[in-house]
Amino acid sequence: MATTVELGQYPFDRYPKVDPTELDRRCQKIRDELGQKLLILGHHYQKEEVIVHADLRGDSYELAKRAASSTDCKTIVFCGVHFMAETAYILANSPEKLAERRGQRVQVILPDMAAGCSMADMANIDQVEEAWEELNELGLAEEITPVTYINSAANLKAFCGRNGGIVCTSSNARKILDWAFARRKRVLFFPDQHLGRNTALTMGISAEQMPIWDPFANEYGGTDLETLQNSQVLLWKGHCSVHQVFTREHIDTFRKTIPDIKILVHPECCREVNDAADLSGSTGFILKTINEAPAGSKWAIGTELNMVNRLKQEHPEQEIHFLSPVVCFCATMNRIDLPHLTWSLENLAANRPVNLIEVDDETATEARTALCRMMEVTEKGTTDL
Ligand code: 13P
Ligand code: SF4
Repeated sequence: MATTVELGQYPFDRYPKVDPTELDRRCQKIRDELGQKLLILGHHYQKEEVIVHADLRGDSYELAKRAASSTDCKTIVFCGVHFMAETAYILANSPEKLAERRGQRVQVILPDMAAGCSMADMANIDQVEEAWEELNELGLAEEITPVTYINSAANLKAFCGRNGGIVCTSSNARKILDWAFARRKRVLFFPDQHLGRNTALTMGISAEQMPIWDPFANEYGGTDLETLQNSQVLLWKGHCSVHQVFTREHIDTFRKTIPDIKILVHPECCREVNDAADLSGSTGFILKTINEAPAGSKWAIGTELNMVNRLKQEHPEQEIHFLSPVVCFCATMNRIDLPHLTWSLENLAANRPVNLIEVDDETATEARTALCRMMEVTEKGTTDL
């Protein structure tokens, strides 16, 4: 098991009963007391009551970068999901950062340990090792770069680190695939088939050259040898349950009723939605697009609802709609709420931190290799790692 956790017993009978204004005040008090020693990171999908306490809001890449550059802080409280907190721990405790802090580790806290990511859970290390072994027996593994979406467990990032692979996020997937194809003939992309497919399609790779690898199939990931030999990207059979609610019909309905509407989606949406949209990109890209749009712009946005609601609130001069008629939050992101945040901060202030996320040294070192490759390719276009 790559991750060890220090679990705290959340008092369900106390914190949720406290008035939110009082919880706000208590959170702020601890933030003031701890100052630079505490860094609260918040993903764009977090609820308003939580995100107001974040020192930095961002998409997965921006938050990972911020964790990697942490110097003064002793604790990161991650308001997001489990893989994000693991990534922050790995990057904040690189050998260079540890040397700068004279060996002092940054501790990372996830306010609710149930905040996982159902997509990340769709690939585990045994399945990926098994697939790799099968590909190796077929003589294909040496031609393949494994690419894991950052939405994955630390041991899958470590797998990529030790097999010449790399991590990507939704904001840099194209750059990462360009890098991968400059080195080897094929890519094994996990766990999100949609981000892999949508990105590879923009590179001119045909859908026929992207077979699905089903980890539950008996042989060849459910495909056949000829298809594998002709493939360019093997797409792991994983998806995001939140983004799969958006459909082509939702887009058609909006276009019919509001002809000058623009459709803006996250690349975790399926191909039909991604192709029919006007724009597709990470949560950071979605935010930037709306921030820069002129007054009177009309949008239907296909991503998590907390974020879309916030954009609506922040931009009353624009007409913003949620792409699906069905309410759709990310249930796991939503596990982090103001009571859990206050509880974790108060335990931290009392010197008995709860819900600590840690990654063992060997896994962290190999995962860091794949993460640092990603950062170098994203920032410089290449990497020697
Ligand atoms: P971003 O990298 O775009 O923030 O996406 C993270 C995520 O989990 C989207 O579902
Ligand atoms: Fe995971 Fe989907 Fe939630 Fe993103 S929105 S954290 S991919 S379950």
